[in-house]
Amino acid sequence: MSILSGKKILLGVCGSIAAFKAVALASQLTQAGAAVTTILTQDATRFVTPLSFTSVTQRPAYLDLFTPDPGRILHIALAEEADLLAVVPATAHTLGRMAQGLSDDLLTCTYLSTLAPVLVAPAMDGGMFTNAATQANLATLRERGVHIVEPLEGRLASGLVAKGRMPEVDALTAEIRTVLGRSGPLAGKTVVVSAGGTQEPLDPVRYIGNRSSGKMGFALAEAARDCGAQVILIQGATTAPPPLGMTTVSVTTAAEMLRAVEEHTVQADALIMAGAVADYRPETSRSQKAKRTGEPLTITLVENTDILRQIPPTLVKVGFAAETENVLKNAEKKLTSKNADLIVANDVSRPDSGFGADTNQVTILSKGHPPERLPVLPKAEVAAMILARVAALVRQRSDS
Ligand code: CTP
Repeated sequence: MSILSGKKILLGVCGSIAAFKAVALASQLTQAGAAVTTILTQDATRFVTPLSFTSVTQRPAYLDLFTPDPGRILHIALAEEADLLAVVPATAHTLGRMAQGLSDDLLTCTYLSTLAPVLVAPAMDGGMFTNAATQANLATLRERGVHIVEPLEGRLASGLVAKGRMPEVDALTAEIRTVLGRSGPLAGKTVVVSAGGTQEPLDPVRYIGNRSSGKMGFALAEAARDCGAQVILIQGATTAPPPLGMTTVSVTTAAEMLRAVEEHTVQADALIMAGAVADYRPETSRSQKAKRTGEPLTITLVENTDILRQIPPTLVKVGFAAETENVLKNAEKKLTSKNADLIVANDVSRPDSGFGADTNQVTILSKGHPPERLPVLPKAEVAAMILARVAALVRQRSDS
């Protein structure tokens, strides 16, 4: 179950060309299990229609403040039942009305009435966005706890290249998930997650690497974000699309990953090592491309530091044990040798588990508890179950 599943999201749509992205957003949120009710401003209907939204959400799309709704007052009922109000796109005019408390349509009346978290995604021409009035309105809203999705630099409808372009749908969904997660079990906590494989250079064009896609690490980072944590993702080589709504630190070698993990765990509450760290690196890396010699080539490898073992157990430590045989026995050993709180064991020789797959079958090992075998599940669900255990361990630590 994702954080969006069963959530009641009110989507406020204003009159901007970026409104077409709101239709795709409504569809994505609905597909993730959210119940999306749309409120359009009058000007929004110049770009999109209520029918666009009812078609993808199978739920009402409202326009008029005075829409009869027998037995209840529409804007108050919508405001009360919402888990989140997302104004996407938010025009300069609507941001101004929100900041000033003006309530002359269904969207602004609902905004004033709701106690739910509010997110706005400004979209407008560059000059309008940087104008002191818009910036002052945004500062007021920020101060009142409204989550602002920063617009991007890019090509605007006017042809101008400036800041004012609304981010794409995946980024908007990530922001919505982040806001919904704020009251989650890891709110106020920092979680460091490593993902992807390391690459150990042989020369400027060749390296020793592994088949990690980064999918499991990314799913864990997203699950930690959805639990309200501030996430620092230490990312090696990956093939999966990177997650959003977190701080990302890119690394290449195991030595770089070690340095990044050491630096970022100083203030963290948990470390999840999902990264596929090379155990060995070439003793020397040539400064020029190695040439063919016609002779066999011998490469001496030296051992890399075990990152998980190296980090002191002052924070919750979670490791993975990617095994092809004696899965549980090998994973048990890692629990002790790496002084970890949890080891997640998986048999990477199975086609439905491990490298590159969208599903995983894992067994969770922790000290003093019998191994807990989970069924084959999508990596996002495995990640959510692991994070529930991490959150409980983090809570135990801060209580003791
Ligand atoms: N790990 C690490 N530093 C390393 C190697 C592994 O932090 N140099 C972490 C991995 O991220 C993972 C856990 O240790 O969370 C186990 O990794 P795995 O490759 O299964 O085990 P190894 O310790 O490398 O042992 P072996 O390869 O001999 O099974």
